[in-house]
Amino acid sequence: MEKWKLYLSLFLFLNFTLASSKNSDGVIVSQSDYQSLKAIKHEFVDPKGILKSWNETGLGACSGWIGIKCVNGQVIAIQLPWKGLGGRISEKIGQLQSLRRLSLHDNVLVGPVPTSLGFLPNLRGVYLFNNRLSGSIPPSIGNCLILQTLDLSNNRLTGFIPSSVGNSSRLYRLNLSFNAFSGSIPLSLSQIPSLNFLDLSHNNLSGLVPDSWGSSNYSYQLKSLVLDHNLLSGKIPSTLGNLGLIGELNLSNNQIEGSLPNELGNLTRLSSLDLSNNNLDSQISSESIQSLRNLSVLILSNNKFEGEIPDTIGNFTSITVLDLSENNFTGEIPNSLVNLQNLSSFDVSYNNLSGSVPSELAAKFNSSSFMGNIQLCGYSNSTPCPSPTSGNLPSSPSQSQSNHRKRKLSTKDIILIAAGALLVVLLILCCLLICCLIRKKAAAKAKNGKTGGGGLVSTGKSVPAGGAEAESGNETGGKLVHFDGPFVFTADDLLCATAEIMGKSTYGTAYKATLEDNNLVAVKRLREKITKGQKEFEIEVSELGKIRNANILAMRAYYLGPKGEKLLVYDYMPNGSLASFLHARGPETIIPWPTRMNIAIGITRGLSYLHTEQNIIHGNLTSSNILLDEQNNPKIADVGLSRLMTSAANTNIVATAGTMGYRAPELSKLKNASTKTDVFSLGVIILELLTGKSPSEATDGLDLPQWVASIVKEEWTNEVFDVELMRESSNIGDELLNVLKLALHCVDPSPAARPEVQQVLEKLEEVRNEGAAAPSSGEGGEAVPIKSE
Ligand SMILES: *[C@@H]1O[C@H](CO)[C@@H](O)[C@H](O)[C@H]1NC(C)=O
Ligand SMILES: *[C@@H]1O[C@H](CO)[C@@H](O)[C@H](O)[C@H]1NC(C)=O
Ligand SMILES: *[C@@H]1O[C@H](CO)[C@@H](O)[C@H](O)[C@H]1NC(C)=O
Ligand SMILES: *[C@@H]1O[C@H](CO)[C@@H](O)[C@H](O)[C@H]1NC(C)=O
Ligand SMILES: *[C@@H]1O[C@H](CO)[C@@H](O)[C@H](O)[C@H]1NC(C)=O
Ligand SMILES: *[C@@H]1O[C@H](CO)[C@@H](O)[C@H](O)[C@H]1NC(C)=O
Ligand SMILES: *[C@@H]1O[C@H](CO)[C@@H](O)[C@H](O)[C@H]1NC(C)=O
Ligand SMILES: *[C@@H]1O[C@H](CO)[C@@H](O)[C@H](O)[C@H]1NC(C)=O
Ligand SMILES: *[C@@H]1O[C@H](CO)[C@@H](O)[C@H](O)[C@H]1NC(C)=O
Ligand SMILES: *[C@@H]1O[C@H](CO)[C@@H](O)[C@H](O)[C@H]1NC(C)=O
Ligand SMILES: *[C@@H]1O[C@H](CO)[C@@H](O)[C@H](O)[C@H]1NC(C)=O
Ligand SMILES: *[C@@H]1O[C@H](CO)[C@@H](O)[C@H](O)[C@H]1NC(C)=O
Repeated sequence: MEKWKLYLSLFLFLNFTLASSKNSDGVIVSQSDYQSLKAIKHEFVDPKGILKSWNETGLGACSGWIGIKCVNGQVIAIQLPWKGLGGRISEKIGQLQSLRRLSLHDNVLVGPVPTSLGFLPNLRGVYLFNNRLSGSIPPSIGNCLILQTLDLSNNRLTGFIPSSVGNSSRLYRLNLSFNAFSGSIPLSLSQIPSLNFLDLSHNNLSGLVPDSWGSSNYSYQLKSLVLDHNLLSGKIPSTLGNLGLIGELNLSNNQIEGSLPNELGNLTRLSSLDLSNNNLDSQISSESIQSLRNLSVLILSNNKFEGEIPDTIGNFTSITVLDLSENNFTGEIPNSLVNLQNLSSFDVSYNNLSGSVPSELAAKFNSSSFMGNIQLCGYSNSTPCPSPTSGNLPSSPSQSQSNHRKRKLSTKDIILIAAGALLVVLLILCCLLICCLIRKKAAAKAKNGKTGGGGLVSTGKSVPAGGAEAESGNETGGKLVHFDGPFVFTADDLLCATAEIMGKSTYGTAYKATLEDNNLVAVKRLREKITKGQKEFEIEVSELGKIRNANILAMRAYYLGPKGEKLLVYDYMPNGSLASFLHARGPETIIPWPTRMNIAIGITRGLSYLHTEQNIIHGNLTSSNILLDEQNNPKIADVGLSRLMTSAANTNIVATAGTMGYRAPELSKLKNASTKTDVFSLGVIILELLTGKSPSEATDGLDLPQWVASIVKEEWTNEVFDVELMRESSNIGDELLNVLKLALHCVDPSPAARPEVQQVLEKLEEVRNEGAAAPSSGEGGEAVPIKSE
């Protein structure tokens, strides 16, 4: 099989055909770009000889020079991270008029950030982090109006942050952390509508946190605001409450004072809040934290908070880390905290708390979580609480602590200690038991296929990261929209990714794309001619982006190019398609029955979710559309793609499915796919798993369902199964037969006779459970109706 390596960017921006994109490598670099690259090389120090290929004769800088990408003989990207490069970045870089991406991170470069970057109107990504650059940020950077990423973190930069950094309305990620910037945070940074990640931590910034978020009509995209380790003062501005999408807020290690504004309570998506080591005071009102239901990390340590610990915290069920230490909280530890099952780190030490620690907390956390609260008791043997029945108070905990000197143990003491030890053992056993129960429950839940989603509302908001509206006269604009997911990338990252073709279908071409950070994503480039118009397309695709199920391939983003290109970004599945897993393996590779059964059940579960929860007909279910993750769990791909296509295109696809052998017979007359035609295709896939045969290769002139039916009719049932399954047949004979019956039921020529997918799922699970319950060896000649030969 031939592997095509090419750059998606070339493919997209020049509409090259596959063949001609190879030729494009031969284009000769423009004279001015050549001169500029030569000057750049001259100022680098290259101890490892990485730039050997950048030689005098190489006028073909666009074909052979390491780290250079061109379009039409113009350099669009310099990517030389982790190359041990020293020296300076030449000002001549300003001559590379088409440069979009400058990536020199993780080298040992010195000297300033070139002022001439401001001459590069197409610049989208500047990645210079982890170097030794000095000087300050040139204000000219404000001329790069479509800049999306500026990461200068971990250098030795000083001076003020120029307010012109905020000029780019497309800025998606700004990271200036780990430098020595001083002065205040420019207001303009709080007015960038597209900004998703802002990290200014570990600098010497002073002044106030800008209070202009939300002062205009923008809908803010900010997901992470990290300003820790600076010298910021003043209050937390209430306008932060307008950052409705924010997930992480870190203001720790500053000099911020005052109280928590009530508006913070509006941040329903906040998952991590760190305000430690500041001068915050006053009580925490329940309004100010009321709706922070998604909080998983809350750190307020080393401030001057007072009053009681709000018992609303007991409602934050996802919380894992709660640190309220070194404040002036008073009163008792609220009993509601006992409800927090996922709490794994808890600290209320060094406050002014009193009363007894709820026993569940005392059992789970050791005494360092509670110490430094003179009136708190019941969290260790040396801090017993006064017994409620006895009239005269025993010595106060503080006294008993000071009585820590060694003394002879009385019989009473020994009995008490023994009883205590017994209690501890019992508690541990209880904990283990509870843990087991919880795990079992969780496992049972997972089995029900309810793991995905978790009630997440995916944003589906437009991120102008790739530049929302194409600038007039600038054909390189485009629009990238993210759904929730683990990846952070801009349109530029995507378009500069190295792409390899994985396959082609009626809908378009699928690529494996490697981002610069080495993350892999699968990209589907839809055929433009057959997709719906942009408006309709966006409505449909934002629905599809919300679908989350363990057996459905998750869509993570889509991209609309300026010329109508449409890309869909999915998780990359390392094990490829079920079709290649089954039909393109080596002779030594055996796929045992439990694996096949697991795949069948997974596909059925995914399809059942589509039919019952999403009301989506797949319409093109084939083994090539089932992808496998590392553990060979199946994920249904191409879900809902028919909704993005014109109806004419869909008719076409139904026809193709016919030739592949997955099409229900009634579809040759009717045009519309239905749940029953999906069940037919599912049946064919299950037959494929049973027989190991591909439906596209007809046997004896019959399609797969007909062939299987003909053999079974002749009572040669055993002939039907994949030979390697027959070796296991003494144990799994019943299962094989029952699944075969079910599959034949699914491919019944009459749609009305076919089961619904939920029934298929129930039956499959029943068969598997019976199989698991049955004795796995020994007798049972009669339980095995299949004779080998
Ligand atoms: C220049 O670099 C190319 C590509 O690495 C190499 O093939 C060629 O031999 C080099 N020429 C000289 C004169 O070094
Ligand atoms: C910013 O840069 C620092 C250091 O390079 C890194 O640890 C951090 O994750 C980055 N933050 C963002 C939001 O990119
Ligand atoms: C960039 O911002 C600065 C200061 O905010 C402003 O004076 C300048 O006109 C802006 N430049 C462009 C090209 O918009
Ligand atoms: C921050 O500023 C203070 C004085 O204002 C200075 O002593 C300190 O060295 C600066 N820190 C850094 C990392 O530049
Ligand atoms: C903001 O929105 C309000 C009301 O929707 C409108 O009157 C005002 O003109 C808008 N301001 C800007 C700067 O767009
Ligand atoms: C906030 O920043 C500090 C300092 O960089 C870091 O130690 C801490 O883990 C961050 N907080 C969270 C919740 O990530
Ligand atoms: C934000 O919080 C304030 C004070 O708690 C409240 O008055 C306001 O209605 C909230 N705004 C939104 C959009 O929820
Ligand atoms: C809740 O927080 C988690 C991370 O802790 C995040 O993945 C998820 O998207 C958040 N949910 C919402 C609704 O924002
Ligand atoms: C916790 O949530 C429940 C229901 O959502 C609500 O009735 C109750 O008042 C909340 N408790 C606190 C202390 O906020
Ligand atoms: C607790 O943690 C488990 C495992 O990480 C997770 O599945 C569950 O959803 C969490 N519970 C809550 C209430 O967040
Ligand atoms: C703690 O709060 C009490 C009153 O609630 C006050 O008298 C005391 O000074 C506070 N201590 C500190 C260290 O702020
Ligand atoms: C602790 O709180 C009590 C009131 O509950 C107050 O009288 C006392 O001064 C506080 N102690 C400290 C050290 O803040």
